[in-house]
Amino acid sequence: MRRPIIAGNWKMYKTIQDAVDIAVALKRKFYTFSEADIIIGPPFTALAKVHDVIIDSSIMLAAQDMYWEAEGAFTGEISPMMLKDAGCRYVIIGHSERRHIFGETDEEVNKKVRAVLKHGMVPIICVGEKLDERDNGMMFEVLEKQLSRGLKDMAAEDVMRIVIAYEPVWAIGTGRTATPQQAQEAHEFIRNYIERLYGKETASKIRIQYGGSVKPGNIAQLMAQEDIDGALVGGASLDVNSFVEIINNAVL
Ligand code: PGA
Repeated sequence: MRRPIIAGNWKMYKTIQDAVDIAVALKRKFYTFSEADIIIGPPFTALAKVHDVIIDSSIMLAAQDMYWEAEGAFTGEISPMMLKDAGCRYVIIGHSERRHIFGETDEEVNKKVRAVLKHGMVPIICVGEKLDERDNGMMFEVLEKQLSRGLKDMAAEDVMRIVIAYEPVWAIGTGRTATPQQAQEAHEFIRNYIERLYGKETASKIRIQYGGSVKPGNIAQLMAQEDIDGALVGGASLDVNSFVEIINNAVL
């Protein structure tokens, strides 16, 4: 049985004070919550302060991106050591906004994923097809390419520890969620692909989140699918009440 994992990606929103206020409210609700892993991903500026709030609770901290070198002359970048120091347990890697707005490649995703693991954190590696790719029947091809390149040269023991987020680009921030069946089809493909490459045990243990317009009203149906183990929530994680409802509905 895979443990449900619900993560909030706050993207480029919230001041430090706003982030702390949300963290305080979430901590009040989920101080000791054992039914799922709850993760919040504030912007870099708020990580350390949010960590101070959630440190003694069951809520865990994620960063939204990272550079792969431990330190050095890389102006503007944030390293795995710095994220660990700020209290991060997870790092979101290869989000579609990184790939499509900032031109991040699968090769860079691979370097980042490996660096996250090397520094003892867990990568949430995002994959997903664009609308034209789906319409042209290329969904599986795109997913396979992103996974094979993103996970290149990684051992099964490492792959077992990562989290994959399937996020169809056409469903992100659009209000257009994949149907539970569409999401399950992609998740099943991803799990089968992991099984082919890394074996049955890895495939049965790896957690795969769905992301793309997840809301309190659609999370339960998504979670009811066999291969959907959680959600990576954007917009709806910015509001305490909707994120709380999503978490509660996810484990009904
Ligand atoms: P959304 O974003 O929930 O606002 O669609 C999801 C994501 O970008 O991870």
